[in-house]
Amino acid sequence: MDWQNALTIKSALGVVDNPYLAQQRVLTIDLSADPLVIFGSAGRGKSTFLKSLLTSLAAAHSPIELHMFALDFARGGLKALRSLPHMAGIVDLNEEERVERLLRMVRNTIEERQTKIQAYDSLTDYNLKNPDKAFPAVVVVVDNVSEFKETYERYLGDLMALIRDGRSFGVYFVITASLTVDVPNKLFSLLSQRITFTLPDPTEYTTVVGRGWASFNDVPGRGLAVQLVGDRPVPLEFQTAVPVAAASEDGTPAGDAFRELSERMAAAWQTLESANPALKSRRPKRVEPLPKLVPLQSVLPALGKGDPNLAVPVGLNDLDREPMRAEFLAKGPHWIVIGPPVTGKSTVLRSLVLSLAHGYTPDQVAMVLVDPSDTVRRFHNFGGNGDNTLARLPHVLATVSNAKELDDVIKRLTAEYDEQVVARLTGQTDVFVPKDNQARRIFVIVDHYDDVEPLNKGLGLAGLAAVGKGRNMHLVIGGTLGIMRSGGDELRRRAESARYTLVLQDYEAVRYMGAKGNFTVTKELPPGRGFLVKAVSASLVQIGMADVDGVDGRTAQEQLDRLIGDIRARYQPAQWSYFAADLTALDKAIRGEEAAPAAGGPAAPPPEAQSTTDAMSAIAELMKMQASMTGSLGTVAEANPLNFASVTIEVPDEPAGNGTNGANGSNGADGGNGAHPEQATNGDGAPASEPAKA
Ligand SMILES: Nc1ncnc2c1ncn2[C@@H]1O[C@H](COP(=O)(O)OP(=O)(O)OP(=O)(O)O)[C@@H](O)[C@H]1O
Ligand SMILES: [Mg+2]
Repeated sequence: MDWQNALTIKSALGVVDNPYLAQQRVLTIDLSADPLVIFGSAGRGKSTFLKSLLTSLAAAHSPIELHMFALDFARGGLKALRSLPHMAGIVDLNEEERVERLLRMVRNTIEERQTKIQAYDSLTDYNLKNPDKAFPAVVVVVDNVSEFKETYERYLGDLMALIRDGRSFGVYFVITASLTVDVPNKLFSLLSQRITFTLPDPTEYTTVVGRGWASFNDVPGRGLAVQLVGDRPVPLEFQTAVPVAAASEDGTPAGDAFRELSERMAAAWQTLESANPALKSRRPKRVEPLPKLVPLQSVLPALGKGDPNLAVPVGLNDLDREPMRAEFLAKGPHWIVIGPPVTGKSTVLRSLVLSLAHGYTPDQVAMVLVDPSDTVRRFHNFGGNGDNTLARLPHVLATVSNAKELDDVIKRLTAEYDEQVVARLTGQTDVFVPKDNQARRIFVIVDHYDDVEPLNKGLGLAGLAAVGKGRNMHLVIGGTLGIMRSGGDELRRRAESARYTLVLQDYEAVRYMGAKGNFTVTKELPPGRGFLVKAVSASLVQIGMADVDGVDGRTAQEQLDRLIGDIRARYQPAQWSYFAADLTALDKAIRGEEAAPAAGGPAAPPPEAQSTTDAMSAIAELMKMQASMTGSLGTVAEANPLNFASVTIEVPDEPAGNGTNGANGSNGADGGNGAHPEQATNGDGAPASEPAKA
């Protein structure tokens, strides 16, 4: 089709009277030429004109070629067009969320086209060369811009930008106003195609259509439009044409002709769509706000069929209303979930756990669930009946809610990722059967991070931070914004390095992070609504919940039972590589001792080797510190100090004269093992601490 002139309408829109030539002709409006403004007092025919305009456009172009948006701020005048298959939405003045969504959709349309046509001369060129992906023309109607100005003043600048930018990208505007004073000057000058119905002050006609107009009858539907006479634009009187509804034969009065036409077009399009379902994706997406409740199940792929790139669906995108995915390979490997209290953070983590468990086998994805808070609040105490809980999912290797459990998990993680520990354990098949840590990824998911301090009694979060670096270990952390502000926490810093964050509700926080997105947020968002931020770009999302009451006629409890029950029925529980309940052999391997029945003696690395990996040395260090801090030197004493690679890191050289430094003394006493560098620096010249003396 002749796309460039596609939005010229000549027929059926009106009749123009040209007294100069004593002739009548058809009113021509070309929306692709310039943005159009229609003036006129209330009840003089603006909305009717709009309806005629949109109806004739709709009759001439399919919903593949033409999409429409309407801000209907003039007493519901456009509602009759609601069923037009071209119509993305007719939005009322008080529907703030839909107004925002409409503006956002139009902005996105322009931006998407901007990017896509970069390699082409123009939109027309793009459409000619991509006929099956051609962009539809978009018509945006604002029926009564003075109401827009009144209620949505903050978006007036956006609106003007859209009008200005839209034309090159096939997005055309039609604006109405009662009086010229209702249209700010800047906007007025953008709207260079103008028509007017009756105005209270006739001198205004000159402002709108220029000089040379003749007075006309004050009849609804009668107005002035600038038309070319020869090559000269002249304001001429016209009468809007309206469709006439056929009165039925039995004499019942005709209904609303606009509505009837819309419905007939809708029915015709429906027939086409049923014959060719692919057409469905070509009609416009609806202008609806994101739902407040998204059942997680509605975004999950089939059981075990998760995306191989570890893009894990947990909600819905606002932009395209497609599943929102946490992309652990493309954007991770780690993810932080923050938000004010009770905004749905735990729900995000629950949905993530369920989505991971549903999408992948325990050989592909295993999990450790960490939550220091009390039983009632713990995020993994969640599920259906009996054992159908998150904690009992076959993918879950362990749950952690205290320091002791964390110590165990950290040690077992070293047996997954630390090559030296693995080497030392290899062969001890009664306690250790290595899993393929390339094939299996381990997610460590920590909720209520604001309350983690009690976990720091043992190896603590620093211990967790040291293990599995650069390997297939993913961290996910949930907490309030406060966790991002507290400084020196290794684990959070590691998780943060991905710069991949979900911020619930708190748009200020998103801005604070320096991220920008394609949305405007003016009021409090519902729970589960937030912004997925990667580096500096943010997008609006709604998180899904697995326990939405009433989906498929099931209670929340039944939904969880079914979802978790299906997963549990499918798989054997995941195993740690070091699976024994008793950690003695693991502790020895971490300390660097050979196993009693030495497994492959010659291959064992010499204990003093500098090749010890960071994780292992850090953990050995931590274990040792822990032991010394609790005053029980037992484990340290039984270990060969030389085996602690990290222990040989330099003790900060104290000035020679500092004779009172107890730590120096203890160094000497321990045969120069340098086991207490921390104490050396925290001594503040005080006598050596208890453990150091011992
Ligand atoms: N995605 C969601 N969709 C709809 N409602 C939600 C969603 N997430 C949470 N909610 C509602 O918000 C409530 C609080 O959710 P949740 O416990 O996940 O919040 P939280 O941020 O973890 O709270 P806290 O600050 O106490 O840790 C839920 O009981 C639920 O009613
Ligand atoms: Mg919570």
